[in-house]
Amino acid sequence: MLQEAQSIIAQGVPVNTDFDLGGLLARRGAERYALHAKHLNPQLHRMLHTIGFDKTYTHAAGAYFWDEEGNDYLDMLAGFGVFALGRHHPVIRRALHDVLDLDLADLTQFDAPPLAGILAERLLAKTPHLDRAYFCNSGTEAVEAALKFARRATGRSRIIYCGHAFHGLTVGSLSVNGEEEFRKGFDPLLPDTAIELGDLDALERELARGDVAAFLVEPIQGKGVWASPPGFLAAAQALLRKHKALLICDEVQTGVGRTGDFFAYYHDGVEPDIVTVAKALSGGYIPVGAMLSKDWIFGKVYSSMDKVLVHDSTFGSNAQAMAAGLATLHVIEQEHVVTQARRTGDLLHARLAALVDRYEMLAEIRGRGLMIGIQFGRPESLKLKMGWAALQAARVGLFAQMVVAGLFHRHRILTQVSGDHLEVIKLIPPLTITEVEVNRFVDAFVDVMDDAHRGSGLMWDFGRTLMKQAASR
Ligand SMILES: Cc1ncc(COP(=O)(O)O)c(C=O)c1O
Repeated sequence: MLQEAQSIIAQGVPVNTDFDLGGLLARRGAERYALHAKHLNPQLHRMLHTIGFDKTYTHAAGAYFWDEEGNDYLDMLAGFGVFALGRHHPVIRRALHDVLDLDLADLTQFDAPPLAGILAERLLAKTPHLDRAYFCNSGTEAVEAALKFARRATGRSRIIYCGHAFHGLTVGSLSVNGEEEFRKGFDPLLPDTAIELGDLDALERELARGDVAAFLVEPIQGKGVWASPPGFLAAAQALLRKHKALLICDEVQTGVGRTGDFFAYYHDGVEPDIVTVAKALSGGYIPVGAMLSKDWIFGKVYSSMDKVLVHDSTFGSNAQAMAAGLATLHVIEQEHVVTQARRTGDLLHARLAALVDRYEMLAEIRGRGLMIGIQFGRPESLKLKMGWAALQAARVGLFAQMVVAGLFHRHRILTQVSGDHLEVIKLIPPLTITEVEVNRFVDAFVDVMDDAHRGSGLMWDFGRTLMKQAASR
């Protein structure tokens, strides 16, 4: 029996030639929107069709992807931030081929996979005051782990979070989501408490009740791109320490170089007790998440041998995600990606900020590194006031959507409105973009804003379509 098995392995497992992925895509790729309409989120294709984003893309590289007519699109969204190194980075790609070719005995669940150990070591080197890592498969899972660990470690239940916060959409993470739009209809959620980002008095009031396990905060909020006010996180940490509660920094979006530091919290001079990471960590190829924390916190959760699986995830330390994570950290160091992100981010920020005085509907540019928020605002001139007011009355956020559509249809640049009811566009491109992409974006933005400030024309026609759509919801 054993000999037979060994000989099959020696000859190689027969390849099932019936399965042909490329052929399948070639045969059925054209059905993509129909398949989604029938079997997946029923609103996705409706939304894409309404805004004219229902394209067929064929391939991608770096900060670009291409449609079936061969047109290139500049990606200023990076798959919601996962493609920090652009798409199909050769080093990550090779690492993934290698990990498959190694035929590892992965996920035995009863050994110590070395790649997870090495990735934990490398990641913790970026947070020297933290000692241990827990790996999972997504940002929301990393946040769920943080919430559970904070509760178990402190013996308290309540989490304080911020208005407009976004930490993921599973029930625990949803309970600390600062937007009613997301929470509505999913009650009852956990009885956590929101404060406004920057409100130290509110934080202290809540802490004084003695039942707070932790304060959970994004150093720069993804929805709206709002940074913690200077000094706020440091003062919050001092209060938390006084009241024996924990500071959790959610770096799922801001981490891995996005803001021009490896972690955004460096900028605030704090030492969070827990840090959550995901998105860019695997270079966008493989779902991944990580929660980094102190030894004593892990000690409370994994308090005895029979608690070894008290918090766990089947795929958590899988070799592909770990290999992609290691390759990502390698590239980030070798190619000085964080420094580059800071420089390119500063350039893009400065070029956009220089336009604020030129356009009355451009209110502010904010953010750090390559996480940039473009805030639009109410115009003063009579010519524009009415159009703006009509859009606002239909739904706040439609002007930003008009600009997103203009960038896409006229210049093939992908961006996104930074959250429901916000007149903000968020730019989170690959960290590897250069001056070429900065120029393309700024030139396109100028063209679209020039058009928007004419107060009539195609863009405003599209605005009227959006208003009708908003009215018919
Ligand atoms: C700050 C933050 N935390 C958590 C999440 C959730 O991550 P995921 O979508 O991987 O669950 C996100 C996603 O955008 C995020 O921006």
